Amino acid sequence: GIKIATIGGGSSYTPELIDGFIKRYQELPVSEIWLVDIEEGKEKLEIVGNLAKRMIKKAGLPIDVHLTLDRRAALKDADFVTTQFRVGLLDARIKDERIPLKYGVLGQETNGPGGLFKGLRTIPVILDICRDIEELCPNAWLINFTNPSGMVTETVLRYSNIKKVVGLCNVPIGIEMAIAELLDVDHSRIRIDFAGLNHMVYGLDVYLDGVSVKDQVINMLTKLEDSSLVKNIKGLKWESAFLKALNAIPCSYHNYYYKAREMFEKTKEEAEKEGTRGEVVKKLEKELFELYKDPNLDIKPPQLEKRGGAYYSDAAVRLISSIYNDKRDIQPVNTMNNGAIASLPDESAVEISCVITGEGPKPIAIGDLPVAVRGLVQQIKSFERIAAEAAVTGDYNLAVLALTINPLVASDRLAKQIVDEMLEAHKKYLPQF
Ligand code: NAD
Ligand code: G6P
Ligand code: MN
Ligand code: MN
Repeated sequence: GIKIATIGGGSSYTPELIDGFIKRYQELPVSEIWLVDIEEGKEKLEIVGNLAKRMIKKAGLPIDVHLTLDRRAALKDADFVTTQFRVGLLDARIKDERIPLKYGVLGQETNGPGGLFKGLRTIPVILDICRDIEELCPNAWLINFTNPSGMVTETVLRYSNIKKVVGLCNVPIGIEMAIAELLDVDHSRIRIDFAGLNHMVYGLDVYLDGVSVKDQVINMLTKLEDSSLVKNIKGLKWESAFLKALNAIPCSYHNYYYKAREMFEKTKEEAEKEGTRGEVVKKLEKELFELYKDPNLDIKPPQLEKRGGAYYSDAAVRLISSIYNDKRDIQPVNTMNNGAIASLPDESAVEISCVITGEGPKPIAIGDLPVAVRGLVQQIKSFERIAAEAAVTGDYNLAVLALTINPLVASDRLAKQIVDEMLEAHKKYLPQF
């Protein structure tokens, strides 16, 4: 049978993942799932792990669930390693969200200063995991969900010996689901050509039963008061002139770039009124874990849908199944560009529609990105690359440079001030600096 190791097993998303393995058991016969966490996450691991066991028992499947703090035991001979961990937990996220606001800069989990610092904290850990994989399960596929997923994938490709890595995000599948709903059709009839980067991805075309419906969809998108399709972002309405001329489907995160001023103000106001997203999630998580404790609960609770990572299980498990079964279906994932997008480096991670084979994702070449989006995408990739280099080397100057070239930060002086305060705030989780 197949052995899965899930790092950050105490995540509230674990029931989502288990639900996915249960649903696809016939095509993906998993025999062991090892949920790994660290001392700080021990209690969550216990609660969510016991729910996972009840879910599997109810489904009547012969899958053994192991709960452990011993990462090496979990990785030994694993076939697939999935990662969903949060270095520094939600308290670190809240600092990422609050500190930049003081400087008039967006505070967000994966964008701007927050994205940089989440990367700086996460990269030493992921590289450590890569070294363990090399030693303990060299043939395994690493399916990374840990944010910033694009920067993390970039780092693994450039700075580790692991080549079998795929970065995952629920945003593309979420766009497919939302468009299917707008068109009132089953999502299986929708296909989108995705290209770009994680949280900076565009739908270059959208098809219903193989026929382009892009104009109709763009028209529908211009009518949404809140253009965000994920639960963690409250977006604004697209200017119809802008979206029609852009002639591509943006993702929810584009609100932060194409409406930078308004989204900063809005995020700040929300932080003052109801707390930052991390603070809201802290409350949500408490509620979720209270539910998870109920010994009679043996399904994925619907309250999980209030989290931003909807469809995570579908994205992760359908990917693993297509690799395992050499299905050759099309899925949007983060993988090495290899020339698929002409305007980005070959060795870089891109988020793109791929044919998923037994040897992994094969990106479908699109040529150049449209001129209107090319520059921003290249700029974000440069930010990710320099941030990754800063994270690997612990070079302070590179951290300042990365933040300065980020489009959400408008000055080198400001970048330095934010880096200084955030390095201090997060120093416990930044051993490289
Ligand atoms: P969470 O705060 O519940 O953290 C998950 C677990 O990670 C915790 O139990 C924690 O103890 C554990 N952990 C922390 N450091 C660890 C380490 N060094 N090794 C192993 N485990 C460790 O987080 P969450 O809300 O479940 O999110 C988990 C991750 O998934 C985050 O990085 C988040 O940004 C990411 N995420 C990604 C997407 C996506 O689209 N790619 C969507 C949602 C969430
Ligand atoms: C998604 C994104 C994730 C993001 C998450 C936040 O939409 O794809 O990458 O980090 O939601 O969700 P949360 O519920 O934790 O705010
Ligand atoms: Mn994401
Ligand atoms: Mn800048």
